[in-house]
Order: sequence, then C-alpha cells, then structure tokens
Amino acid sequence: MWRPPQRIAFEPARGRMPSRDEARASLLFSRVGVGPLELEQRTWIPAMVPWRATEDGFVTDDVIDWYSRFARGRPGAIVIEATGIRDVPSGPLLRIGHDRFIPGLQRLTAAIREASGGHTKALIQIIDFLSIRRRPERGKFIRQFLRVDAQHKQALGDAQMSDEVARDRLEALPDAELDRLLSARDRESLRFGHRERVTDTQFEHIRNLPQALPGLFADAAARAKAAGFDGVELHYAHAYTMASFLSRRNTREDGYGQTLEGRARLPLETIAAVRAAVGRDYALGCRFLAEECIDGGSTVDDAAYFGAAFARAGLDFLSTSRGGKFEDAKQPGVGAAAYPYTGPSGYECMPQYISDERGPFGRNIDATKRIRAAVRAAGFSTPVVCTGGVHNFEMAEAMLREGACDIVGSARQSLADPDWFLKLSEGAGDEIRLCEFTNYCEGLDQKHKSVTCQLWDKIGVGAPGVRTTPDGRRRMTPPEWRPSRTDAT
Ligand SMILES: Cc1cc2nc3c(=O)[nH]c(=O)nc-3n(C[C@H](O)[C@H](O)[C@H](O)COP(=O)(O)O)c2cc1C
Ligand code: SF4
Repeated sequence: MWRPPQRIAFEPARGRMPSRDEARASLLFSRVGVGPLELEQRTWIPAMVPWRATEDGFVTDDVIDWYSRFARGRPGAIVIEATGIRDVPSGPLLRIGHDRFIPGLQRLTAAIREASGGHTKALIQIIDFLSIRRRPERGKFIRQFLRVDAQHKQALGDAQMSDEVARDRLEALPDAELDRLLSARDRESLRFGHRERVTDTQFEHIRNLPQALPGLFADAAARAKAAGFDGVELHYAHAYTMASFLSRRNTREDGYGQTLEGRARLPLETIAAVRAAVGRDYALGCRFLAEECIDGGSTVDDAAYFGAAFARAGLDFLSTSRGGKFEDAKQPGVGAAAYPYTGPSGYECMPQYISDERGPFGRNIDATKRIRAAVRAAGFSTPVVCTGGVHNFEMAEAMLREGACDIVGSARQSLADPDWFLKLSEGAGDEIRLCEFTNYCEGLDQKHKSVTCQLWDKIGVGAPGVRTTPDGRRRMTPPEWRPSRTDAT
C-alpha cells in the first residue's frame, strides 16, 4: 500500500473513558432516526468485505458467524459488505442478483437479529462494478488482447501486412518502441490489465448502463427487503460503476456525464427506481465519496451538490467515504489485478498509522461536515454517517457535537474489537482492544483471503470450538468478551 512520503508514525489514543452514566447520557449513545428506522445508538459498522461467501456468492456459516459476532457488540447498525447486484460470477463476494440468494440472506438477517437481541439494525450495501482483467504477460497481450489496426501496421512500415505479421513484429519490438506504437489506453491495458470504464460508450453494454442499472439495483433492493434487511445502502463510492458516473472524470456525452446534473442523473434515476421497488417505508441510503482524491477528480463541492440532490431525492441517510480509486492504483504484478486501494487515493480511504501531518484519524471529517451543512442548507435533516479512523469515545462524541455527522462509522476499530461500543456503554472502556491501524486486515482483503485482525487472530487457535482459516493458523472470529468488571453485563 502507498504511504505518504512524510512517514510520520501516529499512535491511536484511548482518550478519556466515560463512566457508564456518562456514556449513556452521551450523544453517541442517543437514539437517531434513519427514515422509518430508529437506531438505538449513533454507532455504525460500515461495509467490510470479509471474503467468507461461497465462490458463487452464497451466504456460508462463516458469513453468519462473522456478522453474528459483530451483532453481539450491539452497534446501532451494521452494513453488510458490498453485495453484487448482477447474476454473474464474481468470486467469493456475496451476491443478490437472483431470488436464489434470498434464503441465505434471510438466515443472515435472522442471525443478526438474534445475536444482537434485536438491538442492531441490519442494512446491506449493494454494488455494481465493471470488469477488470488481470495484468497480462506482454506476449499474451499482443497475441490475444491487442486489436491490431491500420495505424499499427502503418507505423510498422507496411499498411498491407496481415494481423499475424503485425503481432510478430510488435512482439519483437523493444519496450520503448512498443510503447510508442500503442495508444495510451492499450499501454494501460498492457501494464495494469484491461479495465472497463463508464466512458467506453463504444460498447453496447456500457452505453446501455443507464437503461440497465436502475432495474438491477431496484430488483436487488427488493430482494434485500424480502430477506429481512432493515435497509439498503447503494454503493456510490470508491472505484465502482456509480462512483464513476458521479466522477468529474466522467466525460460521457449522452446526458449522463460532464456536468454535475449529468453525472448525478443515473444515480438519481436509480434512487427513484429503487424507491419505487421498496416503497416509502423502507430505509434507503447511499455511500458516496466526500472527495475522490485523484487528479481531476470530484471535490467536496461536487459532493455537497450530490449530497443535497440525494437528500432531495428522498434518501434516508448519506454515508461518506473518500478515495479508493483505480486511477492512481499501484501497478499489479503479471497475473494479478489492479486494486483500487494501493495508491494515494487508497490511502485516503483506509489510512494507516504511518502518515503525513494530517495523520490517519478523521481525514474525512472536514469534508463530511461541509456536505452535511450543504444538505441542511438545502432544507433536509437527512442523517449523515462519517467514517475514517474513529477509534475512541472522545473523537466520536466530538464529531457529533461539532456537527460533522449524525452517526459515527467505525470499520477497523470494530474489526479489532466488535464489543467496543458495548464496552463504552458499560463503562468498561479500559477493556477495549484498540486498533493499531496497521492495515494487516486490508492486506488480507487485497489478496481475497479471509479477513481477520492481527490483535486477535492467534488467540486460542487450536482450542476446541475455535474455527480457523483452512491453513489452521488464524481464528475466523474475534474471541468473546468476558467482562472483568461487575458493573459490565
Ligand atoms: C477489510 C475491509 C473491507 C472493506 N470493504 C468495504 C466495502 O465492502 N464497502 C465499502 O464501502 N467500504 C469498505 N471498506 C472501507 C470501510 O468501510 C471504511 O470506509 C474504511 O476502512 C475507513 O474506515 P475505518 O478507518 O473506520 O476503518 C472496507 C475496509 C476494510 C478494512
Ligand atoms: S489488523 Fe486489526 S489492528 Fe490492524 S488495522 Fe486491521 S483491525 Fe486494526
């Protein structure tokens, strides 16, 4: 993963721990409405893919164990990982693109309800993404993937040569020469693997995304409702299709790009279609980027416009993230796919403890505060969720008090200790396992390995009843909390 060149090491702090009474009287542990839902507290575990689904996208016992474990910490809400809306193979990512996925998801919502004693709301993040190929070997790229055209042949000195001869000649060229003959897009496909973009309107399936996506999202949301989820989060963030429509880099010329209105059009049409499918009495929100954090990408002013537009369109919550784009991702090794969290924008999304002067904690607070202010100025009270580096009570409470957000998201701190909210509310904050923001978990995610945390995945390995990864080395879920204090329940 990319790290800021300043290389300043930050240490997460426990901060001042509240007593049980103080915690219970705090903003963090106060109720909040999210459309038709009421969360018991303003704590929120945002989507995190743990790589526990089957190869064909079904819920497994490991998925159930994972989310049940988080539910036992009783956060206000848990958002289930990015779940694919299409009925196409996508590796061990959860899927919701067909009714056959509903029974497994039903098991999941029932498990969360039971494990949290009905205290936690379960939402699901639904996603569309375009295809990306692995970085090819040079020879394979030239032989199989490159579309040889007249310009290549002209540059090789004979416009009449066969494609076969052109490929032979291209393959024999030194790298620098080959680079000169390839278009920028082909050079990228060679170095990073071919990646579809929403601007590839020369392809019918990309041109027709505005016709296809509202229905796909609406059907997926209807399945989520049928499976018993309390709400749906549309994934409009990071490197995926909807975020690419919202991006300043979206130059589509068909009314779905270029201007702010054009870029927001498909996301808004999708909201309307989903709303029609799930009805007004169902919690619907989206996750989108406060800032894209790439050259020429969307800024917080764009996000403020989108936030107000989404609120006007009737979303029940807005959740922000930042960065996480392909445009500045690291070059993958041959045979591997580019990963959108490996460059500077990836750092903004999941900053680790080695940082710049701003540090890794709360990098999205200022931008989210501006978006929330714009939503309020437009006359909407839509709750806003802010995530990023939150790891102690003081920080979370200050974010709420200072108007950055209405709900506090915490991903990695909750992974390190899914009971951390419970411990705070019970006055047992000194028992919290504090996330070190090393991104060990993120490294596993990148390799599509079962995500675990280095602070707990070796504890009790080999003990009866402790499920481990197939290699037997890591436990799959955090150990249970056994309160050492009598006032903790
Ligand atoms: C292992 C892992 C998987 C993630 N998967 C998702 C995802 O499916 N959808 C999403 O919007 N964000 C995802 N994220 C980003 C988190 O939701 C969150 O925005 C990010 O980790 C920063 O918050 P934190 O500092 O509280 O961890 C993931 C993060 C991690 C560490
Ligand atoms: S592995 Fe654990 S300690 Fe490290 S960043 Fe992830 S959650 Fe935090």
